[in-house]
Amino acid sequence: MAGKLWGGRFKKDLDPVVKCFSYSLAVDGELLQAEIAVSQAHARMLARVRLISAAEGRRLVSALAQIGKKFEVKDPHEDPLAHYRKNTEDIHTFIQSELAKRVGDLAKKIHTGRSRNDLVVTSTLVYLKRTLPVLDQKIAKFEKAIVNLAEKAFDVVIPGLTHLRRAQPVLLSHHLLAYVGMLDRDRSRLRDALGRMDKLPLGAGALAGSSLALDPKFVARQLGFKGVAENSMDAVSDRDFVLETLAGLSILWVHLSRLAEDFILWNSEAFDYVRLDDSVATGSSLMPQKKNPDVFELIRGRAGVIFGNLLSSLTLLKGLPFAYNRDLQEDKPALFSAIHKTSLALEALAVTIDRCRISEKVRNWTAQDDFLYATDLLEHWVKKGISFQAAHERVGRLVRYAADREKNLGELSLSEFRKFLPGVDSGVYQLLDPWSSVSRKKTPGSTHPREVKKCLRVWKKRLSGV
Ligand code: ARG
Repeated sequence: MAGKLWGGRFKKDLDPVVKCFSYSLAVDGELLQAEIAVSQAHARMLARVRLISAAEGRRLVSALAQIGKKFEVKDPHEDPLAHYRKNTEDIHTFIQSELAKRVGDLAKKIHTGRSRNDLVVTSTLVYLKRTLPVLDQKIAKFEKAIVNLAEKAFDVVIPGLTHLRRAQPVLLSHHLLAYVGMLDRDRSRLRDALGRMDKLPLGAGALAGSSLALDPKFVARQLGFKGVAENSMDAVSDRDFVLETLAGLSILWVHLSRLAEDFILWNSEAFDYVRLDDSVATGSSLMPQKKNPDVFELIRGRAGVIFGNLLSSLTLLKGLPFAYNRDLQEDKPALFSAIHKTSLALEALAVTIDRCRISEKVRNWTAQDDFLYATDLLEHWVKKGISFQAAHERVGRLVRYAADREKNLGELSLSEFRKFLPGVDSGVYQLLDPWSSVSRKKTPGSTHPREVKKCLRVWKKRLSGV
């Protein structure tokens, strides 16, 4: 059995059911590589302040490197630590017992001046410092896939919706680029969170600090922290970085789920804007004709799990007394699961969007229901000097007149138009056209093709290094 880090005071071994209940290697094994780096920095520091000899420091650092190498995850379906789960309390115990196999009694010195309370926070922070930039790049790749699709769809006009009712014509590319903007904010939110993960907790010990002459500043420099935690109790109790990560990921998943919903609608026969590649769609075991957008549905469904992770972490921390409590172990399943799910989701979405085709039907779309030019008529009238409210009333009446007769605006005669909009000339019919509608927009950030093209260029440039 692997050694414990705390046996001396106890007469009995832990009950098997309590082990099974409380051991965490199956989850915190994820921290292995981060913790190897933390322990190497710690060993170097111990040698520097002469709590161990320089030769001991070197032996520990190299044995730690061997452990890191041996237990590297090569195949994501395999857990090299699976075999140790039953009898090893946690990743900290695991690393120390592996060290003992390599350096014997010297392993007992690695934990000098530290507690698992400050160690686990430090390793989790280092883990996030390594993982969040990887997620950032995956978001960027996904953004790039959307930008590519927007480029392919550049001149396609669709009826933009509000309340899921036809509102005004917009470029499909404009709609797609809205998502790129949202995702870019997600990246910046995660980067902000990462920016605050800059105070080293190691040195806080269990809660009170240490009477040993440790050098946390040195460890901080080694591990890429800007400074050292100012308060040892805050250092071991703080999980804001977990909350911030999960909050950032939750907002990201709000966006992913909204995008997924749009694509589910657009892929439905009712809309038929986009066609999915066979390699990213699935069939039905009963209905042979079916081709379903499961990736998007899973994204929509899985978003709830991520929000659950955030909520469970908030609840975990709410009212928790100072300083460390074992409850805090429960931060990790939520955090790791959210990170893994996000990473896979971004990859699957990037592939799915990359292989999306714009349907011919939407390319050739012209409005059958041309009420969505009502705002064009209204603004046309405002430009002629009629007050906005009066023009709104008149166009509203015109629409009601046409709707009552089950006619489109384009089917009304000029004299019918004139009943509502006196003095109108035949140029009014040119307003009822998708491309001319989008091309009349003037505000920055509008769906005007020139604006959209400019945005496409900006995004392509910003994402060119991805
Ligand atoms: N598995 C624990 C966690 O994740 C490690 C710290 C344990 N500390 C303790 N005093 N029991 O939080």
